[in-house]
Amino acid sequence: MDLEKDSKKVAVITGASSGIGKACAFRFADEGYSVALVARRSEELSAVAREIEAKGGKASVFPGDLTDEKQIEDIVNNIVTTLGGIDVLVNAAGVIANGTIENTSIEDWDRLMNINLRAPFYMLRCAAPHLIAGKGSVVNVSSVNGQRAFPNVLAYCVSKAGVDHLTRCAALELAGQGVRVNAVNPGVVRTNLHLNSGMTDEEYRQFLERSVTTHPLGRVGEPEEIAELIFFLASDKASWITGETILIDGGRGQTCAR
Ligand SMILES: NC(=O)c1ccc[n+]([C@@H]2O[C@H](COP(=O)([O-])OP(=O)(O)OC[C@H]3O[C@@H](n4cnc5c(N)ncnc54)[C@H](OP(=O)(O)O)[C@@H]3O)[C@@H](O)[C@H]2O)c1
Repeated sequence: MDLEKDSKKVAVITGASSGIGKACAFRFADEGYSVALVARRSEELSAVAREIEAKGGKASVFPGDLTDEKQIEDIVNNIVTTLGGIDVLVNAAGVIANGTIENTSIEDWDRLMNINLRAPFYMLRCAAPHLIAGKGSVVNVSSVNGQRAFPNVLAYCVSKAGVDHLTRCAALELAGQGVRVNAVNPGVVRTNLHLNSGMTDEEYRQFLERSVTTHPLGRVGEPEEIAELIFFLASDKASWITGETILIDGGRGQTCAR
C-alpha cells in the first residue's frame, strides 16, 4: 500500500491553525493527502485550507475545542462522514505553561493535561476503528520535555511523558491490527507556543537567543523540519517502526549540566 501520492488518503491534523500542525497540513497536502484541519480558530483553519487549495491540494476544516470530549466525537464523526475514513492522525494541538512543583495551580495542571494528554488519548480512541479499517498510522507530537526533566515547566513535562507512554501502550495494542503509533519529541521550535503561554515578545527573543546555546547544533528548529519527520513516520517508509518516541531537538536531549 503506497500512502504517498494517493489522493484518497485522509490525514487528520490537530493544531493545524499554527506552528507544527500547520506545517504538517502543508506537508501532507503536498503529498496528495486530503487533510482534515482541526483547532479552535476556524478563520485561521480556513486561511490554511485556502492556501492549500490555491496550490491544488485538498483541505477541509473541522473547528472545535479538543478539551471537550463531545466535540472530539463530533469532529471524528464529521470527518469520517465527509471524507470517508481516517488513514493518518497527527495529534499536534498543545499548550505550555510555567510552574514548579511548589506553585503549579490545579487549574493549570488540569488545563495542560486536558489538551496535551487527554485530547490525544480521546482523538486516538475515537479514530481507532477507522485507522484499523485502513491500517493507518498515528504520530503524536510530544517534546524533549517528555524524556528529560526541565525546571519550571512541571505540568508540561509530565503531560508529554504521558504522551510518550500513551504512544507505546497504544502501539502495542494496535500493532496486531496493522496500525502504527509513534511520537516525535522536538526541542525548541519557532512557533506561537511560547508567546501563547504569556511570554512577552522581548522574553521570547531572549529565550530564542539562549536556545542557541542550549541546543548543541546551535539553533532552534523550524516547524517544517518537525513536519518532515512526522510525515516520514506516518508513511510506508516507516512501515516497521511503531511505539517509538524520537528526539528531534538539535541534540538538546543529549546535554547534561556539568
Ligand atoms: N514550539 C516548540 O518549541 C515545541 C517543542 C516541543 C513540542 N512542541 C509541541 O508541538 C505541538 C504544536 O505546538 P506549536 O509549537 O506548533 O504551538 P502553536 O503554534 O501554539 O500551535 C498550537 C496549536 O494547538 C491548538 N490548540 C491549542 N489548544 C487547543 C484546544 N483546546 N483545542 C484545539 N486545538 C487547540 C492551537 O489552535 P487554536 O488556538 O486555533 O485552537 C494551535 O493550532 C504542541 O503539542 C507542543 O507541545 C512544541
